[in-house]
Order: sequence, then structure tokens, then C-alpha cells
Amino acid sequence: MSASIAVTADNRTNYLVRPLRREDRQLIERALKLLSAETLYARFHSRGIRLSARDLDYLTNTDARDHVSWLVIDPSEKSQDGAIALGRYVREAEASSRAEVALTICDRHQGQGVSKVLLGALGASAMAAGIERFHGSLLSENQAMRRLVQSLGAEISIQDGAVVAEAAANPWSLPDTAAAQRVRRVATQVGAALAAQRSSASSVRMRS
Ligand SMILES: CC(C)(COP(=O)(O)OP(=O)(O)OC[C@H]1O[C@@H](n2cnc3c(N)ncnc32)[C@H](O)[C@@H]1OP(=O)(O)O)[C@@H](O)C(=O)NCCC(=O)NCCS
Repeated sequence: MSASIAVTADNRTNYLVRPLRREDRQLIERALKLLSAETLYARFHSRGIRLSARDLDYLTNTDARDHVSWLVIDPSEKSQDGAIALGRYVREAEASSRAEVALTICDRHQGQGVSKVLLGALGASAMAAGIERFHGSLLSENQAMRRLVQSLGAEISIQDGAVVAEAAANPWSLPDTAAAQRVRRVATQVGAALAAQRSSASSVRMRS
């Protein structure tokens, strides 16, 4: 089971990140109920959402490569085991170097740079998995998301009436903006921790 990784997107705030696990089904169900109607609408384009058992199976059935989800944990947050945000990518098709990304930050923690923590963790995984481009759709009135993708040099287009943003998945291929530097800082921390976890797993295998 992957351990939590300490990260800091700037010099002030410390978070932990960890991959979503099978046993996080209830956490997701409870967290969804706490999201405001605005956040639900921004994320799912619907004000009411109920996840079926099948949806929960799918969401938590990640594989660290083609379907990746990272949770952000704020150790000072008392509810939801400290979980404050979830970001995921799903590879578009087998062997594709593109993946669709979605981010959800709990209402109380929005506007504090948590998006860069998620994108740093997702970027570290994407690099290891050979994913080069992230894309996602957003509502045109979603100012926070628009500013975020602009700060990362995303290309914006209209596809089938929806606003679609596309940017480099590799944090080191992003333009040299303050937002991208924060994403890179987290990606460095997560990448180093994942490499250390892989190397300790392989030395355990060699010993056994
Ligand atoms: C959109 C979202 C992912 C952004 O994450 P975040 O951690 O709150 O955003 P950040 O604090 O990193 O801020 C990103 C940018 O948006 C700006 N911003 C943040 N909240 C804002 C708001 N309510 N209105 C306008 N701009 C806002 C920030 O100032 C920053 O811009 P800057 O770099 O030019 O200063 C998050 O707010 C969220 O989960 N919203 C609900 C779900 C959603 O919209 N998901 C995206 C679709 S998949």
C-alpha cells in the first residue's frame, strides 16, 4: 500500500498526498455529500449526483498508470480523515499519450493553491506512465478553472459546445509561470518519493 507523501506547493502550506485506494469508497461518498451545489455543478455539470456501487468501483479501481487518482490531505483538517481534494486522470485509450483530467477541491479549501498540489502529483504519475498531454472540459463561467489553465499555458478550444482546455502533463513542459513552478515543486517531491517506494519494493523482492 503506497504511503502518504509530504508535499509543499509553496513555502507556507504542508499537505500530504496519497493515491486513492479501494477502501476509500465511503470517504468519497461522504465527501460528495459535503460539496456545495456550485462545486458539484462545476465538477459534474449537474447539481445533484448519486454514485452507484458500480461508479464507486470504477472510481476507486485505479492502476497507478492508466487511471490515476491522488487525494490531498490537510493534516490540520479534522473531518473526512483530512481529505480535502481529489484529482484524477484517465488515459484516453490504450497506448495513448493523452489523458482526461478532473479536479475537485472541497469548498473550504478552494482558492488556496491546492490545484497545483493535485497537478504536481498527477504530473509525476503521468511522466512515469508516458502521458504527455492533459485535457479536460470546464464550464465557461468557471473563473477559477479558467485562471488556473491560463496560468499553465493551456490551449482553450470549443468542442461540441463545451470549453476544453489542453496542456502539457509533464510539469517541466509547462511555461515558466509561478503556477507551473508550484506544480513542478510538488512533482519533484512526489516523483522522488515514488522512486524511493519502487526501489524499496524491489529490494524487498530481491531479498525474498
Ligand atoms: C477549479 C478548482 C479546481 C481550482 O482549484 P483551487 O485550488 O481552488 O485554485 P487555486 O487556488 O490554485 O487558484 C487557481 C486560480 O484561480 C483563481 N481563483 C481561485 N478561486 C477563484 C474564484 N472563486 N473566482 C475567481 N478566481 C479564482 C486563483 O486566484 C488562481 O488564479 P491566479 O493564479 O491568477 O491567482 C477548484 O476551485 C474546484 O475544485 N472547484 C470546483 C470543481 C471544479 O470546478 N473542478 C474543475 C472542473 S474538472
